[in-house]
Amino acid sequence: MTLLWDADPAATDRYDFAVGQVTRVDTQAAMVRALEEAPDEQLVLIGPDVDMEGACQFSEFCRVERPNLGVLLLRRRLDVNVLGQALRSGVREVITADDLTGLADAARRSRELTSRVAGHAGDTAGSTRSARVVTIFSAKGGVGKTTFATNLSTYLASTGSKVLLIDLDLAFGDVGISLQMLPQNSIIDLVGMAGHIDEQAIKSVVTKHDSGLDTISAPAEPSDADRIPGSIVGELIRVAKRHYDYVLLDTPPAFTSHVLAGFDDSDLLVLIATLDIPAVKNLRLTLDTLDLLGNPKDTRLIVLNRSDAKVGLRAEDVVAALKQDIAVMVPNSAAVPASVNRGVPIILDEPKHPVSVALRELAEKFVRAPEPGTQADGGQKSSEAGSGRTSRWSLSRGGNR
Ligand SMILES: Nc1ncnc2c1ncn2[C@@H]1O[C@H](COP(=O)(O)OP(=O)(O)OP(=O)(O)O)[C@@H](O)[C@H]1O
Ligand SMILES: [Mg+2]
Repeated sequence: MTLLWDADPAATDRYDFAVGQVTRVDTQAAMVRALEEAPDEQLVLIGPDVDMEGACQFSEFCRVERPNLGVLLLRRRLDVNVLGQALRSGVREVITADDLTGLADAARRSRELTSRVAGHAGDTAGSTRSARVVTIFSAKGGVGKTTFATNLSTYLASTGSKVLLIDLDLAFGDVGISLQMLPQNSIIDLVGMAGHIDEQAIKSVVTKHDSGLDTISAPAEPSDADRIPGSIVGELIRVAKRHYDYVLLDTPPAFTSHVLAGFDDSDLLVLIATLDIPAVKNLRLTLDTLDLLGNPKDTRLIVLNRSDAKVGLRAEDVVAALKQDIAVMVPNSAAVPASVNRGVPIILDEPKHPVSVALRELAEKFVRAPEPGTQADGGQKSSEAGSGRTSRWSLSRGGNR
């Protein structure tokens, strides 16, 4: 979003075409108040009819109070005096009011500069948050991705962490319905803000859950999925990382461009297996595809869902087929669909249930842990895993990569 200081109500439409969504205020005092409410705002436009003295005074104020904020000044005519005065006061660029292309370019340059400065400040001062990004994926449908995503994220949120769950199952996402929420907005509302997504933009599309979790829903219309470019996902994650402790991604059972963008920014991939041959075959192909994509092996974690289902295939067979250990086994229970139907994640509703114990183990040992690659160390803390059903599963013949 961009703040615009201009007394003309028609100015909003004129400039938001060039710089993305614009919020207009008509006085300097209102602008200062708006900035106080938007600590991460990156860009301010000053309209062509704001007097030069007020504009320069405001720009000087921003230079001291908000050095990361870019101030762009619009003028009806440019001359050397105006340029000199503006630049001395800290305005980043002066653009003629009818040059919308020039304005769009200046806005882009200013944002790039802001993110470089912010990135540098973050690197040197360590002052910004940097969420751990966790994607829950399986190339097969119905294996428990949404169940895991909603349980893990509400659990982490309930322990006081700042968590964002993004539903990347853009055509058939069911995070909203699983948590009995009625989202007013969705990720589709970010499309018009591409290139300008900031904290305010994220807040404008978030639906809050009682656990404290923030969610970004999939569009209500499946056909809208095609209107969402993969690049939006990367931009959204990169901005969200600065404002959350955890960003979790629920996914569709396919390598869509959105999923691939999610993989690129993920610190951990939770890959779900079940005890059926197609699921294991798809997981094997998924691991091969991730290898081809250059995804680091130590960011992957295999979790076996419905691990005790009596269906002829055993956990040992899965380990042998995948040549990879299983980090956590989550038992099968009718209590899981029952909790979905109640709209309350089982991990919150029935914390002692074996499914909840297993999911909590996944959350505490692997999602929360800074080093997901430690799954192979065999020496992890063994606090609440308790039963052998839910502890880490490793076979000597199942070499871990
Ligand atoms: N451990 C479990 N025990 C019993 N039922 C389970 C378990 N995990 C998930 N389920 C049930 O399996 C069904 C599919 O789960 P879920 O919707 O989480 O899968 P998904 O991978 O997200 O599916 P899709 O690919 O269609 O999005 C749901 O009815 C869910 O309640
Ligand atoms: Mg799902």
